[in-house]
Amino acid sequence: MALRMFKFCTVLRSLPMRRQRQCFSGPLSILAKRKFSSETRSLQSFDEMIDMRRGQAQRSVLVQVYSGNSYSDLSELCHEFGKVRETFYYTTNEELHFMLVEFESKESARKMMDSATFGQQMPAVPCVTPFLWMRANNIKKAGKGTLCPCPEAVSDSEAKPEEILHQMRSAQSISQQISVLRNLTKMADVGTRLRFLTARQLEMSLSGAFPLIKALPFGSSVNGFGKAGCDLDLVLQLGGLEEGQEIKSQGSRLVYHGKNNQSCNGRALVQRHMEVIADFIQHMLPGFSKIQRILHARVPIIKFRHDLTMVECDLSMTNMTALYMSELLYLMGEIDSRVRPLVCFVRKWAQSNGLTNQTPGRWISNFSLTLLTIFYLQKKMVLPSLGTLIHLAGPNDKRMTADGINCTFLRDLSNLSISKNEETLAELLTGFFDFYAGFDFASKGLSLVSGKEMPKPEHCPLYIENPMERYLNVSKNVSPEETVRLQVELRNSSWLLEQIQDEEQNGRESQNWGVLKLLLKSDTSGFKVPKPKTFRLVQVKDLFSEQENGFSQPRPFLRDVNKSKPKRR
Ligand code: UTP
Ligand code: MG
Repeated sequence: MALRMFKFCTVLRSLPMRRQRQCFSGPLSILAKRKFSSETRSLQSFDEMIDMRRGQAQRSVLVQVYSGNSYSDLSELCHEFGKVRETFYYTTNEELHFMLVEFESKESARKMMDSATFGQQMPAVPCVTPFLWMRANNIKKAGKGTLCPCPEAVSDSEAKPEEILHQMRSAQSISQQISVLRNLTKMADVGTRLRFLTARQLEMSLSGAFPLIKALPFGSSVNGFGKAGCDLDLVLQLGGLEEGQEIKSQGSRLVYHGKNNQSCNGRALVQRHMEVIADFIQHMLPGFSKIQRILHARVPIIKFRHDLTMVECDLSMTNMTALYMSELLYLMGEIDSRVRPLVCFVRKWAQSNGLTNQTPGRWISNFSLTLLTIFYLQKKMVLPSLGTLIHLAGPNDKRMTADGINCTFLRDLSNLSISKNEETLAELLTGFFDFYAGFDFASKGLSLVSGKEMPKPEHCPLYIENPMERYLNVSKNVSPEETVRLQVELRNSSWLLEQIQDEEQNGRESQNWGVLKLLLKSDTSGFKVPKPKTFRLVQVKDLFSEQENGFSQPRPFLRDVNKSKPKRR
């Protein structure tokens, strides 16, 4: 049985922590044959979670209101259409005010949309979507209805830096600091709802012609690693079926005529379709703005912003592997509750130290950082390798993309045993920096499939094997200079953490204690917010040229890794 792949080890509790970490660096396997209880792991599969969120979106409408005072008025109106399950009062930095209303049934949401009228003050194309606005009610119904208190306003942005700083300072331990950071920055429920409603709008608007259409969110919006305000990655399927799916009316004698595109096929056809979709979104659909067509990338995308949900979107039409990749990351986060806080800290640390940037470029991406952290947790036997999940897969786990990529792996986590590794978040974080500070990036790559280092199959500064498409390097974009910067910062932080731990033992000297030292400016007045250096920036269109990742231009070295490495005490 595959679980035998995991050996057991003794937790060396009697040794000092540093020594323990050294002991754990070997190929130990510490998954115990103990079943997870539903308290430690939500047994909701990725597909169930997606279905639940899509259902929620189908039952929801977003109504722009004048202010929170409109709540009573809107509640009264909503009750004409059916029972309301939940209402969120959502504001965009206090400027625009919305009520996100979820009904008990999708019919009620539909009735409410059907009751609406089209605005007359602007030459808008009449369009029925779940985005509405409520006119002021000039006819006051004296004595009718009771004034309901408006729910507290929620937003899709993370807590203010001062609040994060305050709470991290007040934490009891380094591990708690890491948890606090995660809790104050993670995407809230309303953020997920707004993203699924954005997808729903696209789906609804096109479903007349394409009834099988699906707009499926993937990436950080659904993989559990999302930060408040993160972008929305969407894959739009016009109705092409994945292997294993069947059209219901297979036996019908009547068949729809379909468009026969003999002049172009494959990739060119996808690009044409995306051009049409981009035009449609740009000229017909309310809320969408700043449309950019990046159709010559390996994965063609349309970028846009939604002004009502305030979400930045990347829409693709052929990216099913990325969807399964999101499912894998979701599962990794569900397997152990330490995974998400740790990834969140590593991402924040990288951002604070100027290693990542909102625009894609020669630097490491959040996605690569997530894989880097997962790989380390595989080495620590907190997480299983993808190979193990593949080995444990059953007949219901079979997934094959239209272009033949096998994305089969175990989905039902109740069949997986719990890790026996009981290290705290603080210990794991220290181990993370120690591990990568000494990692031989020059000759070794990372394989999440085996959970082990691998010889690099090609010449590149940083190699992280794409777990789904194994011939691809996820961090192919990272330049030699950025790899050096990464190594320098890993070593600095490894060294700093050693000092931090000494301080913990000998007494804290300042309120900016613990891992705050890895995130704050040198004058400790606040979080580091590195300004993007213009010479490190590239044009988005250059990034997505068909000649992928053409980052061969030599760039000046930023810092010499050996010179910058602080002396260890
Ligand atoms: P993103 O780069 O948007 O990453 O890729 P992200 O995880 O959403 O993180 P942020 O918050 O936006 O920075 C979206 C998804 O595309 C897949 C992964 O599933 C990723 O989560 N992807 C990305 C791949 O499968 N391979 C890649 O090389 C890149
Ligand atoms: Mg993303």
